[in-house]
Amino acid sequence: MAAVEAEKKPAEEEEESEEEDDAEDEPPPDFEVPQNRKGRQSVSAEAYGAWNKKREFVPPVIPKSPEQTERLKGVLVRSFMFAALDEGEFNIIVNAMQEVNVDTSQRIINQKEDGDSLFVIESGSFDCIIKSNEDGTERVVKTCVPGDVFGELALLYNAPRAASVQSREPSVCWQLDRETFNHIVKESAQNKRNRYDAFLSKVPLLSSMDSYERSQLADALRVSTVSDGTVIVTQGEDGDKFYILEEGAATALKDGAPVMEYGVGDYFGELALIKNQARAATVVAKGVSKLLTIDRVTFKRLLNVSDLEQRASSMYT
Ligand code: CMP
Ligand code: CMP
Repeated sequence: MAAVEAEKKPAEEEEESEEEDDAEDEPPPDFEVPQNRKGRQSVSAEAYGAWNKKREFVPPVIPKSPEQTERLKGVLVRSFMFAALDEGEFNIIVNAMQEVNVDTSQRIINQKEDGDSLFVIESGSFDCIIKSNEDGTERVVKTCVPGDVFGELALLYNAPRAASVQSREPSVCWQLDRETFNHIVKESAQNKRNRYDAFLSKVPLLSSMDSYERSQLADALRVSTVSDGTVIVTQGEDGDKFYILEEGAATALKDGAPVMEYGVGDYFGELALIKNQARAATVVAKGVSKLLTIDRVTFKRLLNVSDLEQRASSMYT
């Protein structure tokens, strides 16, 4: 029996063949692409794509000091969207990115405008703000922190900006142009989001998440396949991961006795993260199973911890 707590690096993960490749440019089912796809970007994107295929992509190289390069690499390795790149791709992204320094309350993205770049945050924070079509009021839908990416939707879906983004404090971020994003990152980011949106939307625990939150969770997921009898978590050990069963089955055992059976869409491993305690049970795979793994930070940011606590108090004796 093999323990799987030590996760594989993303590049080595046993990801499924990318069946949904053709879904490129299709937004997740309930993601609202604004109707007025307007102006230069949506029209020219097609022509641009055709033209682009005909020529060799020459990635931009924006000169940087060694100190800037180090800072940027440190940001990118923390960002899920760039985690699966190989070394060559990673270096192309490092070369292409441009440092952007902003003061407090600066809007660097305006809802409904066309967009040609995305941003990764190094320091500071940004509010994503959506203006209501009905009464014009603005609502903060997400606050982005270091390591987060924003401005990716316009590039993924060739749509106008879905929100405005404004700095909350003096902040540093890195900007990536559409062309480099399209060539190096878009396909894998898109595939992962498309592939997991449908599955995650059916997981009862996640039913209160909106489509955008699910896409963030999809970015952060690690996927691993385990064989029959694999010990996924061990009672009494430390743990910093949360699991959802994508395929297969598993059994939880307490002091060696079975206490719970899991099937597709079920989750486990939440107690150690919620209560900062050792694993309360051992969980063993039944048959070949596929696990979606969520790290502690993402778990706390994206999942409804009080809901999980309530569920736990009625689920376990
Ligand atoms: P984009 O549409 O290119 O520009 C605005 C960005 O706000 C968007 O990409 C996302 O990165 C970010 N954002 C954060 N939360 C949301 C949300 N709930 N809906 C849409 N965009 C969001
Ligand atoms: P955690 O303690 O992090 O790791 C073991 C997991 O087994 C635990 O979270 C729960 O998700 C799950 N589990 C299933 N049944 C029980 C039980 N009776 N008591 C505690 N944990 C259980």
